[in-house]
Amino acid sequence: MKILGTVRHWLFLGSGFAASLTIAQGVSAEEMPVYSSEATAQPEVATHGMVTSRTTLATQAGLDILKDGGNAVDAAVTVGFALAVTCPQAGNLGGGGFMLIHDAKAGETVAIDYREKAPLAATRDMFLDEEGKVDKELSRYSHLSAGVPGTVAGLALALDKYGTISLKEALAPAIELAEDGFPVNQDLYASLVLGKERLSGSPEAMEMFYHEDGTPYQVGETLRMPELAKTLRMIAKDGPAAFYQGPIGEALVADMEEHNGIITHEDLEKYRPSIREPVEGNYRGYDIISMPPPSSGGIHIIQIMNILEGFDLHAMGSGSARTVNTMAEAMKYAYADRSKHLGDSDFEPVPVDWLLSKDYAAEIRAKIDPDKSTPSSEILPGEAPHEGIDTTNFGVMDEYGNAVVNTYTINFSFGSKILVPGMGFFLNNEMDDFSAKPGVPNAFGLIGGEFNAIESEKRMLSSMSPTLVMKDGRPFLISGSRGGSLIITATLQVLLNVIDHDMNVAEAVSAPRMHHQWLPDILMLERGFSPDTIEILEGMGHEVKVGRAMGTTNSIMFKDGIFYGAGDPRNPDTAALGY
Ligand code: DON
Repeated sequence: MKILGTVRHWLFLGSGFAASLTIAQGVSAEEMPVYSSEATAQPEVATHGMVTSRTTLATQAGLDILKDGGNAVDAAVTVGFALAVTCPQAGNLGGGGFMLIHDAKAGETVAIDYREKAPLAATRDMFLDEEGKVDKELSRYSHLSAGVPGTVAGLALALDKYGTISLKEALAPAIELAEDGFPVNQDLYASLVLGKERLSGSPEAMEMFYHEDGTPYQVGETLRMPELAKTLRMIAKDGPAAFYQGPIGEALVADMEEHNGIITHEDLEKYRPSIREPVEGNYRGYDIISMPPPSSGGIHIIQIMNILEGFDLHAMGSGSARTVNTMAEAMKYAYADRSKHLGDSDFEPVPVDWLLSKDYAAEIRAKIDPDKSTPSSEILPGEAPHEGIDTTNFGVMDEYGNAVVNTYTINFSFGSKILVPGMGFFLNNEMDDFSAKPGVPNAFGLIGGEFNAIESEKRMLSSMSPTLVMKDGRPFLISGSRGGSLIITATLQVLLNVIDHDMNVAEAVSAPRMHHQWLPDILMLERGFSPDTIEILEGMGHEVKVGRAMGTTNSIMFKDGIFYGAGDPRNPDTAALGY
């Protein structure tokens, strides 16, 4: 009886037709999810595998691969290329990112770092004007703003080492979408409206995305990208060489030469993604595995969790003023440390073990009063002991026990807004993630130090945090987000909401978020916190700003043989689909 009621509820209350069908067909009464009709938000549910990304079309492309017997890496790489078409504001060929892969057979998790690199000719002061001030136009919208792209090499490496299908097969859905066209979704339309002023500087971009009268393609209109289809075909035929040594690179370098850019053939030829060991921690019996430098994300998620482990967040309650204040305090210390100690560990001695240690977390915890805010001016980065506006996340879990979570970006929406002529894709403006001048905030208000100064071939510090939570040796939860500095805290809150507040993954993603990044000394809240909670937080000493949505996450949870997926309600087309 109860079960029938539950099934009906799912049918009508919008976890989607596929989920309802899966329950009806694939899950016996005993296996019915523990998260059921009492939940305030329903995840997508499936028994074989799950894919989640920012567009339904890319998610569906990945799901088709899983259904054909492909593994999570096959599906993830397919999604990555499909997003380069269906989400051109963030999905990309001209950017970079990070992919975490849990290989069930080998029992290991690896991190693929395909972050962009500073070109060989980059110099520390390249974005400073004559008065020594940071020239933001140069660091964000010029050819100099682009780092050497890593996406094509990174996705190809992941597939080659951990996948089972060919690059050609992984590219096929993207090529089809670009060639035949796809209906513009709300998300892309909104980005085109917002991006028009900048994009109108490029006749090629105007021709691609706008009608002759200057209006963007409308929601539901078919957008075709023949040039991008051609570029994808070249990669399908000749592999990454088409990009790094072939016609795509030729076009990129020629454009650089024409516009005072500095990316050369040598830069492209030398670019290699790195396979790194992820950072690891544990939190209340769960293993947390995430991205190491040059991302700051993994380190600070684990550091904040280490600090919070000493507080009973469950008893303090989700969204209560004490919980929000305690989290904000932990975040302030972490972001203060980020400003000094984080950078590309291939170049700088990032004190990873110290930042991840339970002892250092305990030192910070001792300074935190759950009922009082410490002004950021009184918080300084710790002293390490001496020793030697657009991103997108996606994830896949498969029936073989593999999991992939990936975040990649071209930094801003449409990156630098510069299209590689004739190739149909945008160049990133990731060079702005370096500290152009130590102490001067970047586009996300993040302050960086010497460790993140510009240097030839260095990778710029990132906040991207694809994260995997393991329970009893098996993937339990994957999550990641977009949102610059908000990525770390948005991803963290999905984890805490599941682990501490017993939320299902859809609830964990939907719950209102908070964020503090040390500087500016402002506690940011999404709408949805109660006025009396805000009053208490102000009484604790916080300057509170209630405002825009923070982060867009994609998450999948695996529990008792069932996959639960959730896109993010903050983004209209983000989807989780399973079978
Ligand atoms: O790597 C980083 O941390 C930034 N470039 C990410 C930018 C971003 O998330 C913008 N998106 N919403």
